[in-house]
Amino acid sequence: MSDSNLFDKIISHAKEYGFVFPSSDIYGGLAAVYDYGQNGVELRNNLRQYWYLSMTRLNQNIVGLDSAIFMHPKVWKASGHVDGFNDPMIDNKDSKKRYRADVLIEDHQEKIRQKIDKEVEKAAKRFGETFDATMYRNTNPRVVEYQQKIDQMDGVLKEGLETGNLAMIKQLIEDEGIVCPISGSKNWTDVRQFNLMYSTQMSALDSGEDQLYLRPETAQGIFVNFLNVQKTGRMKLPFGIAQTGKAFRNEIVARQFIMRMKEFEQMEMQFFCKPGTELQWYEYWKEARLRWHKSLGTPDSMYRYHDHVKLAHYANAAVDIEFDFPFGFKEVEGIHSRTDFDLGKHEEFSGKKLRYFDPETNESYIPYVVETSIGLDRLFLLTMCQAFHEEEVDGDTRTVLKLHPAIAPVKCAILPLVKKDGLPELAEKIYNDLRFDFNVYIEDKDSIGKRYRRMDAIGTPFCVTIDHDSLVNGDVTIRHRDTMLQTRVKIEELSDILAKETGMNNLLKAL
Ligand code: GAP
Repeated sequence: MSDSNLFDKIISHAKEYGFVFPSSDIYGGLAAVYDYGQNGVELRNNLRQYWYLSMTRLNQNIVGLDSAIFMHPKVWKASGHVDGFNDPMIDNKDSKKRYRADVLIEDHQEKIRQKIDKEVEKAAKRFGETFDATMYRNTNPRVVEYQQKIDQMDGVLKEGLETGNLAMIKQLIEDEGIVCPISGSKNWTDVRQFNLMYSTQMSALDSGEDQLYLRPETAQGIFVNFLNVQKTGRMKLPFGIAQTGKAFRNEIVARQFIMRMKEFEQMEMQFFCKPGTELQWYEYWKEARLRWHKSLGTPDSMYRYHDHVKLAHYANAAVDIEFDFPFGFKEVEGIHSRTDFDLGKHEEFSGKKLRYFDPETNESYIPYVVETSIGLDRLFLLTMCQAFHEEEVDGDTRTVLKLHPAIAPVKCAILPLVKKDGLPELAEKIYNDLRFDFNVYIEDKDSIGKRYRRMDAIGTPFCVTIDHDSLVNGDVTIRHRDTMLQTRVKIEELSDILAKETGMNNLLKAL
């Protein structure tokens, strides 16, 4: 199966089993906006909780925050978002469609990359076992020429974006003969910068003076509360503030399902430290965050670091953690050493001192900051992609989500074998005993096989079947999702088994 087929299957599965729905579905959906269904909300809550607890419970010096989405408009002036949070856009005059100019170029580069792969594939067939793909890529004249073209385009794009020379970028699109995917024409407008922030008014008056923005990141809520938290919590450096919450960006190019959304959720932690120690803490968080990702059972090979070569003007180190999605390695989380840029700017714009008095040195200074920033929706997508499996079982295909039990939406399904003879009543009793501690599900419809399959499809790690022997012996069959093995256990053991196998505290202890 091609990776794009696999990704299509994951998207259909997410809708069919109540994980993710298009927003306003009955009205035809809303581009790049999604709703989470009955199973999606449980999985997402579990992922968020795992992140939040691993930050706040496992680190004595990290505390939580929940700042408002609306903030004083000066916040976004100070942070640089009003003037600099832009994407370069270009319109096709025939189709009237708007595109991100850099994405048009990147898509064009991808097509050239595919040509390279085809050349290499053909050569591999021709030369057989002795074929050295790396040498071929480095020496075959046609492949080298393709690669040079890609590199040259990278250079022009980078220079155009960095120097703000948007005419250069338009020229590149024209020189490369890039056409609109809809109209097929090369009839382009100039490239213009387009701010990604959504704005609204505080009052009903549309005067523009009370213009507010929907926050494009949660981080600024942490910076402006730095002193509030530091003073009321009597926090000593180094310390961190963690928060999860919605962020909004007017992403013109909606792509890859919930990968790039207009309304999404971030989980961000700003770690305030003494100037000069930030790179040490940067290394610490870089390593700690990758360890956190892997703790959910994903193989090491699915992750990689991508160091930023060109740093933002306020950063002195930055790295992305990338995951190998069906459409290739893409960013899931960023770790950034942001120096004293944000607090310094807020000090300048607010006129309020945002300093830390260091009792050890008797000096006041603006702390440096290392940020970890992960998108909850991207983490959700990664988790679905990683968990989705199709397996042949007895000549049939079973679709199973092999989610870590601690994040699975439903921990255990209680299934009476038949709908009579007192089995539903015993199932109800077991359900009522367990539901205070675990998200359990009870169902007596359809054959037991069909019910198992439905539970596999939403990643339920355990199914408990109640049969006639259960009434006599007080025991039940417990079926394990991944192995499909079944064992007999006493009803009173169920709670301990579920706590041991599905508790989030086990994940936290192992970190
Ligand atoms: N405070 C830093 C910051 O916002 P970012 O790289 O722009 O950095 C951090 O965003 C993370 O937020 C990304 O790694 C990604 O997981 C997530 N993210 C950003 N834009 C997103 C979007 N449009 N849709 C979904 N997730 C997004």
